[in-house]
Amino acid sequence: MIDLLGDLKRTHYCGELDGSLRGQEVLIMGWVNKRRDLGGLIFIDLRDIKGIVQCVFPPENAETYNKAKDVRHEYVMAIKGIVSARDDKNKNKSMFTGEIEIAVTEAFILNVSEPLPIQLNENVMAEEDLRLQYRYLDLRREKLQKNLILRHKMVYKIREFLHTRDFYEIETPILMKSTPEGARDYLVPSRVYPGKFFALPQSPQIYKQLLMIGGMDRYFQIARCFRDENLRADRQPEFTQLDIEMSYVSEQQIYDLIEELFVYVWKETINYDIPRPIVRFSWIEAMERFGSDKPDIRFGLELQDVTDVFTHTEFEVFKKAIASGFKVRCVIAPNCANYTRKQLDTLTDLAKHLDAKGLAFVKYQNGAFDGGIAKFLNEEEKAKLSKITKESDLVLFAADDDKQSFKVLAGIRNQLGKDLGLIDSSKFAFCWITDFPLFEYNDDLKCWEPAHHMFTLPKEEHLPYFDHPDKIKDIQGQLYDLVCNGMELSSGSIRCHRYDIQKKIFDLLGYTESELEDRFGFFINALKYGTPPHGGIAPGIDRMVMLLTQAESIRDVIAFPKTLKAVDLMSQAPSTVAEKQVNELGIKFVPTDNL
Ligand code: AMO
Ligand code: AMP
Repeated sequence: MIDLLGDLKRTHYCGELDGSLRGQEVLIMGWVNKRRDLGGLIFIDLRDIKGIVQCVFPPENAETYNKAKDVRHEYVMAIKGIVSARDDKNKNKSMFTGEIEIAVTEAFILNVSEPLPIQLNENVMAEEDLRLQYRYLDLRREKLQKNLILRHKMVYKIREFLHTRDFYEIETPILMKSTPEGARDYLVPSRVYPGKFFALPQSPQIYKQLLMIGGMDRYFQIARCFRDENLRADRQPEFTQLDIEMSYVSEQQIYDLIEELFVYVWKETINYDIPRPIVRFSWIEAMERFGSDKPDIRFGLELQDVTDVFTHTEFEVFKKAIASGFKVRCVIAPNCANYTRKQLDTLTDLAKHLDAKGLAFVKYQNGAFDGGIAKFLNEEEKAKLSKITKESDLVLFAADDDKQSFKVLAGIRNQLGKDLGLIDSSKFAFCWITDFPLFEYNDDLKCWEPAHHMFTLPKEEHLPYFDHPDKIKDIQGQLYDLVCNGMELSSGSIRCHRYDIQKKIFDLLGYTESELEDRFGFFINALKYGTPPHGGIAPGIDRMVMLLTQAESIRDVIAFPKTLKAVDLMSQAPSTVAEKQVNELGIKFVPTDNL
């Protein structure tokens, strides 16, 4: 028999009952987390969003006792009873409510449940795919609930902070014209205009700039963004940004605002003090020292340029590399000279996985270089190398063009950081990366592409470089990223508010007049009508929550995430739709082998 809710009214949450309520009658509601039948007594642990409390059903109260006999895991109950102290021997120190229990006077079964297809016990977790299929059940786990609650709190604190700084929260369209941000768009066909499409925003970039042109002065939005790109542990096809834009700002003002915001949010949510100011590395410095523009600076193991050691080397690999104008760089792993063949092979495999041709190494043991390329080193080279090595060091080399060397050594550095236990997981190490190059050359397509996006203002002193093709690579943008523990958290820039400069950028990127008019006409025109200098930034909300909750996967901080293959296993989206719907849109499918 299922009871009706009727006018039953919850008086307390299960998880907030404690000794201060002793003797009081309470009415709680929740799921049956556990039921133990000890013959004489039945115990039910009732669980709600705030926690679990033990309820005792004495046999003297036959009606409730018989009800308790019938209930199973995950039945939904309302329980009325008196908060009572537990005997000392029955106290459970590991539970917030462990000092008390509810002596049940009345019980109601509000709903039944079939046995769950997944266990909710953290220690016996089902495969993730099965959990994602039953996400609504997986969400009953305390860990996921805590993550979502922290996410709520974080967003609440962000809103509070920005409100006090004169920001206005403004919504921008989801159905929009495509704004290029580097990834593929999700497209939405128009029924009214067959053959035409809306795009879902990759970010509200153009709209936020138009809001500045529209005079809104300071904007923010908790903005959903959509990108059809390859997914990774910290990427989802739809994700959320804290999108920010401000008029009349310098880079420095944006650093100050964001640092104050992050300090506030970290303090208010997890009581962590982020030290200020946050260290800044120019892009070049970050690459030279860490091989990455999203360095994990919780540990050292910085890259070193050892080209000078090898200028006259007989080691063919380095000789050829140096002759091609490349550098020889290394990472020194302390106390790793005793690495076995297998451990070295694992590192070499990692290097090869990162497209390296190899990973030369040498060990410094018992005061001498040994193993790997030691046999190729002459006395002078050994003497030079010994200045940067100490006993038991393992030196790992990359000799390639900068891009490749940085990629490999950054990967090796991160791996060693983990393997050697150098990463303090209780720490948040933030850094700004600044002075990014504005353009990157695409070797495959033989053209320049924006390194971030095309609306960034070049550094003033680099404007003349636009007229010198060999200097394009040296143009830096007023661009900045905020990085924490090796994860890119935010990107932003000071924007091109001048039509003439924006036009130069479009020209360089190879847009024809008609393409420009067609794709961005509305935006470029807007720049002609008194656009104020402006800039902004967009921290990734999901990644912030990942850090705050120490979640390993972005899926653990999103209520209904998609898999790495960009599907929703619960609803099975994307899915086919009725033929009528497709016909209405004037869409015909071509078999994929014809594409
Ligand atoms: P950007 O493309 O660098 O910049 O994105 C800003 C931040 O958004 C987060 N992010 C993601 N999070 C989860 N899944 C994804 N697929 C994903 N892609 C990005 C990251 C990233 O740092 N309009 C500009 C911002 C600006 O210039 O103001 C932009 O979108 O945390
Ligand atoms: P090889 O002469 O190709 O057998 O390479 C000799 C050693 O140099 C091996 O340990 C390779 O892993 C390593 N090696 C090859 N190419 C590179 C490179 N570009 N940078 C660093 N080490 C390399």
